[in-house]
Amino acid sequence: MTDFTVTVCPSSDLVDGGLACKLPVQHAGQATTALFIRYNGQARGYLNRCPHAGSELDWEGHVFTRAGDLLMCARHGATFKPDTGDCTGGPCLPSRLSALHVSEEERDGKRVVLWRPEGKTQPA
Ligand code: FES
Repeated sequence: MTDFTVTVCPSSDLVDGGLACKLPVQHAGQATTALFIRYNGQARGYLNRCPHAGSELDWEGHVFTRAGDLLMCARHGATFKPDTGDCTGGPCLPSRLSALHVSEEERDGKRVVLWRPEGKTQPA
């Protein structure tokens, strides 16, 4: 485990059920992105890769369903629980999104979202 963290965005940028913040990352040596969202008040992060066919989940940052209670892959419509990443429907059942370690804290007087890279997913 490392203490190294990446500042993702100001906490105020993540609105419950709203647009995701994305960051370029390397996963197992491949260029892709990570997706950061807020759900039930808590910031969460996932590797932005659908377990079905490996596409990015979002469309221009839109990843929540209209009801705001699930994440949905823009390609073939698989759905995922925003708080755990577990697939709840669609072509990739049973599977889950790859969760990232996310926290929030005060830095220089501003509350920010932080990502602590672990394992195969690292900053680009
Ligand atoms: S790539 Fe996401 S459902 Fe097919």
